[in-house]
Amino acid sequence: MGTFKQIGVIGSGAMGRGIAQLFATAGVEVLLFDSRTEAIDQALADNRQQLERLVKRGKLGADALNATVARMRPARSLAELAGCDLLIEAIVEQLEAKQALFRDLEALVAPDAVLASNTSSLSIGAIASVCQHPQRVAGFHFFNPVPLMKIVEVVRGERTDPQVIQRLCAVATQAGHFAAVTPDSPGFLVNHAGRAYGPEALRILAEGIATPEQIDRILKDCLGFRMGPFELLDLVGLDVAHAVMASVHQQFYQDPRYAPSALVPARLAAGLLGRKCGQGFYRYADGVAQLPALEPAEPVAMIRPFWLDSADAEVREQVAAVLAQAGARLETGPQPSAEAICLLTPLGEDASSVIARLELPPARSLAVDTFAGFDKRRVLMRQPALDPAVQAQARYALGADGVPVEVINDSPGFIAQRVLATLVNLGCDIAQQRIADPQTLDRAVQLALGYPYGPLAFGDHYGASRIMQILQAIHGQYQDPRYRLSPWLRRRVQLGLPLTTAE
Ligand code: NAI
Repeated sequence: MGTFKQIGVIGSGAMGRGIAQLFATAGVEVLLFDSRTEAIDQALADNRQQLERLVKRGKLGADALNATVARMRPARSLAELAGCDLLIEAIVEQLEAKQALFRDLEALVAPDAVLASNTSSLSIGAIASVCQHPQRVAGFHFFNPVPLMKIVEVVRGERTDPQVIQRLCAVATQAGHFAAVTPDSPGFLVNHAGRAYGPEALRILAEGIATPEQIDRILKDCLGFRMGPFELLDLVGLDVAHAVMASVHQQFYQDPRYAPSALVPARLAAGLLGRKCGQGFYRYADGVAQLPALEPAEPVAMIRPFWLDSADAEVREQVAAVLAQAGARLETGPQPSAEAICLLTPLGEDASSVIARLELPPARSLAVDTFAGFDKRRVLMRQPALDPAVQAQARYALGADGVPVEVINDSPGFIAQRVLATLVNLGCDIAQQRIADPQTLDRAVQLALGYPYGPLAFGDHYGASRIMQILQAIHGQYQDPRYRLSPWLRRRVQLGLPLTTAE
């Protein structure tokens, strides 16, 4: 068997041309086909330009350029692909079109040639269902731009021969890509794991907790994401992102875990699709997002002392140090004095619940998020009974060392806790459903989505038991099965094991 001698790529759009370039660079002969002849010529010309750029930057030798270009040739008819032993389809995302193509290919190619689809949302089983030999059909799902995104999902249909999976993994590895093997399930691996970050941010927005800019800033600065969820939605296009969301939700039979946001349809109808049309959650001028700056807090006299609900020495020290810079005092008594501003540090609860539970004065109580990253950005959470003068003093005091302070409305789990907990929980469910083993899941998510950690390692980094506590509190407050605990998460916390522990 071994790897493949000649690859036929069908569809020469953004993905097909990238796939051709990837394998030609890795030394495999590639034939490129498209129903529009001009698309093939365009793809070959584009690929040459891409490679020439690499030569200019010293990343590819001139000889290698010529050899790579020579390995990519046009096929002027589908019949010219008859000798290929791997056929990768990257045509339009329509089941009937892909089925018709696979039928035609089967009539052309050798009985042991492998047929792979780059589909991102269609079932491999459904595509293979029209084939004589469904065991040779698999998903081979690349990410855009293919040569740079060093990961491919190798999707195992229910009838796919394990040898086909092995061969696809081998050729992907030969081309320098990480092959993430995953079953034929909704969204496969990466698009499934990506159903927490944007959707939970949309929920937070829909509840009026914070603005898109605030949510983006907080998630970038407190958790280390490179892009905020709204920047990402604008980049991908709200239409594309919503279609994935709706499709995964439907395929999981309306499991609330995957519910799309009701905010989206009106925005789609209004044409607020994102970067590609100049406006989404942000406005774009010459392709650059117009970001409103966060207004610094007005100086306020430190009339009241502060009281903190936390007994955690590290947290107390952090908060006391910032307050000292503002000239404010942190009380040490078990109960707040009659003047004190009560700072609460909830994990998963909203401020109102903590106030009720501890019987604190609502006008003088607000929450501060000490869960993740206190150094780059701080988050204060108010509630409807808060005295505005108390809010102003707290905001000024907590930013006395120059760190920006965001004030958001009451929310179970603020923003960072809540988005992180849903993301980790979803990753745990993916592991529980055997959609990927822990290492594959974490690596695939980091490579494809650029998160600072994979979902399981993310949970371990911040403490799985704290993640569980956050989720239990959110679930208790919303009574929404969306936040139900994954058994994978619960068991590992109960047994004192890292979330990355395989079954
Ligand atoms: P595209 O629209 O850029 O290119 C598709 C090409 O296929 C066009 O040149 C079109 O002329 C050709 N084509 C359509 N029907 C054909 C047929 N029956 N026979 C031969 N050629 C045909 O699309 P893109 O973005 O390259 O996507 C291709 C596939 O890859 C889709 O299934 C898509 O869902 C999937 N995909 C796309 C990603 C992306 O970021 N664009 C990422 C991962 C997967």
